[in-house]
Amino acid sequence: MIISIIAATGRNNEIGKAGNLLCHLPADLKRFKEITSGHTVIMGRKTFESLPKGPLPNRRNMIISRNAGLRIEDAEVYPSLDAAFIKLIDENEVFIIGGAQIYEQTLALADKLYLTKIHADFPEADAFFPTIDFSVWRKTGRETFPADEKHPYSFSFLEYERL
Ligand SMILES: NC(=O)c1ccc[n+]([C@@H]2O[C@H](COP(=O)([O-])OP(=O)(O)OC[C@H]3O[C@@H](n4cnc5c(N)ncnc54)[C@H](OP(=O)(O)O)[C@@H]3O)[C@@H](O)[C@H]2O)c1
Repeated sequence: MIISIIAATGRNNEIGKAGNLLCHLPADLKRFKEITSGHTVIMGRKTFESLPKGPLPNRRNMIISRNAGLRIEDAEVYPSLDAAFIKLIDENEVFIIGGAQIYEQTLALADKLYLTKIHADFPEADAFFPTIDFSVWRKTGRETFPADEKHPYSFSFLEYERL
């Protein structure tokens, strides 16, 4: 099973502010949907609460929370990452979709990274991706797109595999 992390970060590893994403990039949301659809997604409870329409459709949603009483329709809640991982069977690729706490605890386990690098600084950010040691990752993909009327900043889709 491949463990993949998918995230959109600013120039300084920013990922969120006040419980939400940094900015609206429709192409990134489309890519996220294409890459994760049909797979299991694992997320922290705060990221789940940031989803505008609840559990992500066409994906098995696993939510990590220490709140033992938490029940969410169309999603599974687990008290730890380990408890979620042991429930994965016959998966070819599973996606860690955030947020900061969950990325921090899973970066060392990940085999692949799908990063969207937004070419901007977000000084108001309060959630960050952990520091990546690029000496243990090989870049396998890069596509760059300019800002346009729908995208306030230019951005790159990057893929890495662990060496
Ligand atoms: N740019 C991106 O790609 C991206 C992606 C995802 C999220 N985000 C952003 O990231 C921010 C949220 O990140 P965050 O770090 O604040 O929250 P988070 O990682 O989404 O969720 C944190 C919560 O997860 C649970 N948790 C974490 N570790 C646990 C463990 N070991 N065992 C059991 N439960 C555990 C706890 O839930 P309980 O409190 O319920 O116990 C904790 O409060 C938001 O701004 C969001 O928009 C950005």
